[in-house]
Amino acid sequence: MYNIALIPGDGTGPEVTIEALKMLEAAARFGGFAYETTTLDFGGDRYLRTGETLPDGAIDDLRNFDAIFLGAIGHPDVAPGILEKGILLRIRFELDQYINLRPVKLYPNVETPLRDKGPEHIDFVVVRENTEGLYSGMGGVQYAGTPHEVATQVHCTTYHGAARCVRYAFELARARDRAKRLHLVAKTNVLTYVHGTWWRAFNEIGDTGYPDITREYAHVDAATMWFVKNPEWFDVIVTENLFGDIITDLGAMIQGGMGIAAGGNVNPEGVSMFEPIGGSAPKYASQGVINPLAAINAMQMLLTDLGEHAAADRVEAAVVQALESGRFQSMNAGQMGMSTSEAGDFVAGLI
Ligand code: IPM
Ligand code: MN
Repeated sequence: MYNIALIPGDGTGPEVTIEALKMLEAAARFGGFAYETTTLDFGGDRYLRTGETLPDGAIDDLRNFDAIFLGAIGHPDVAPGILEKGILLRIRFELDQYINLRPVKLYPNVETPLRDKGPEHIDFVVVRENTEGLYSGMGGVQYAGTPHEVATQVHCTTYHGAARCVRYAFELARARDRAKRLHLVAKTNVLTYVHGTWWRAFNEIGDTGYPDITREYAHVDAATMWFVKNPEWFDVIVTENLFGDIITDLGAMIQGGMGIAAGGNVNPEGVSMFEPIGGSAPKYASQGVINPLAAINAMQMLLTDLGEHAAADRVEAAVVQALESGRFQSMNAGQMGMSTSEAGDFVAGLI
C-alpha cells in the first residue's frame, strides 16, 4: 500500500493531476498494487486566502508519504518568488530532494523543432543539482532603493552537494546501459571556484568508481548549441542548479514542448516529488485544453521511484502507443485535437 500526496496546486495543475490519477489507477490495476492519495491544497489560492504558503507541520507530514505528485505552483495574483520559495523550493530543500531529474526524450510522432532529428537522436537525461548553487538563498541587499544599492546572490557549492549528484549521474549512466557517457556541464573557465569543485568531484568519483563510463565536459553555452545541433551526443548530463534549470527548458522544447516534459525532485534516500515541468500556465487553466502527457510522464517517473517498474514501463508503452496512433494532432495546448480529459482517458484506456 503506497501513500501518495497530491499537490494539484495552481492554474492547470489540478486538471492535469486528475489525468495523472487516471493513469495511476490503471497502473495499479496492471501492477497489482494498492495506494491511497491525500490531497493538499498548497498553492496560490490558499496563500491569498490565509497568507500562508505552507502550514506548520506540512514538511514533517510530507515526510510520511511514499511519494509526492505536484501539478504546478504559480499564481498571477501573487508576487514572483513567494510561492516558488515558500512552497516549491522549501519542499525541495527541506526534504533534501537534491536531484532534479529531467529526461529529454523525443517520442514517435512528436514534432521537434529540430529538422532532421528523430527519436533515435533525442534521448538523454539531465541530472540537475537541486538544493545549492544560486538557489541557496545566500546574499542580500544593502542600501536598497538608493543609487548605492548593493545586491549579492551567492553561488554556494559544496563538495558533498556536487559529489552526491555526480555519483547519482554515473550510476544512472551505468543503469541506462546505452552510450555510458556522462557530460559535466559547467563554466569552469569563469566560475573557477564553484565549478572547480564540480570538476574535482566529477573526476575523482569517475576515476575511483566508474572506469566504464566515458567522461565528457561541455561549457554551458556550448551545451545549448549542441542540444540543437547534435543532441545525439548526450546520454546523461550532470550540472549545477541554475544551469540545469535553463538547459532543461531547452531540452523540453526539443522533445516536443512543455506539453510532454516531466521531471522529478528526487531524494534517493527519502521522499521524492514528481511534476510536469511546464508550470501553472494560467492562460490555459480550466479550459480543458492543456496536454496531460507531461503529468502522465511525471506519474510514470513516480511509479519508477516506487519500484513499480512493470507498471511504469506499461505507462510509457501506453504513451508511445497513444502517440503512434496519430490521435494527438499536436503536443501544444489547444491543438491536441482532444480535450485534456479525452486525452487522459485515451492513454489510460490503453493499459
Ligand atoms: C523549475 C522552475 C522553478 C526553478 C521555479 C518555479 C522556482 O523553473 O522547476 O524548473 O527555477 O527551479
Ligand atoms: Mn525551470
